[in-house]
Amino acid sequence: MNKLIVGNWKMNGGMASNEVLLGSIVDGLFSVSHAQLAVCVPAPYLAQVQTRLQGSALAWGSQDVSAHEQGAFTGEVSAHMLKDFACRYAIVGHSERRQYHGETDEVVATKAQRALASGITPIVCVGETLAEREAGQTEAVVKRQLAAVIHAVGHCTSELVVAYEPVWAIGTGLTATPEQAQQVHAVLRAQLMAASQKANRVHILYGGSMNAANAASLLAQADIDGGLIGGASLKPADFLSIAQSAKA
Ligand code: 13P
Repeated sequence: MNKLIVGNWKMNGGMASNEVLLGSIVDGLFSVSHAQLAVCVPAPYLAQVQTRLQGSALAWGSQDVSAHEQGAFTGEVSAHMLKDFACRYAIVGHSERRQYHGETDEVVATKAQRALASGITPIVCVGETLAEREAGQTEAVVKRQLAAVIHAVGHCTSELVVAYEPVWAIGTGLTATPEQAQQVHAVLRAQLMAASQKANRVHILYGGSMNAANAASLLAQADIDGGLIGGASLKPADFLSIAQSAKA
């Protein structure tokens, strides 16, 4: 299975800088042999990204999707709208949304359902805080977060992408060691396999201060199928270098 390397731009970008960043990534795609790439961008830029990337091998997606189908939900963006801009992916349950916007496991699960219903692949984020890790709760936390989504999507479990993002490693420069990450990925894989026989094809991404220097050792782990990249995805050379470190 080819690795999947997804950039999460978070709330960064602008019309002019996006043009430069996208152009540099597209120009470098020839140098990547064993990974598919995607960028998840702020919603206002989806039209720009669609126009720029149509016909290229770089896929795109959103960073969130509404749990509602349509109607009086000011400020929300529906899965149907994302589909209008040909989004292939939608990140759901990012820890920043769980933390700053009060998203519960149930809300995240509904968002994953909405994305799937519109033919968009949800990238379901799970991960423990530092306090939870220190209390020995890592496995219990990620299993609870993933269980809610599996329960909601049922036989579509094999259509998910899952991202393990330890909260303590996001934007901190602290990375889980390859062994720490692999241990959690194996737990998630087992949980997915118990839900669907086809779950061996689910990409389980690692996210949290992944960069050009540490990507190869993380991506070499048996159950690490790619990366969800924050800061380093805004630097085209670094993003491409991470993708190049994916081996067959
Ligand atoms: P950083 O790579 O900046 O740590 O962010 C990771 C992340 O949250 C990706 O979704």
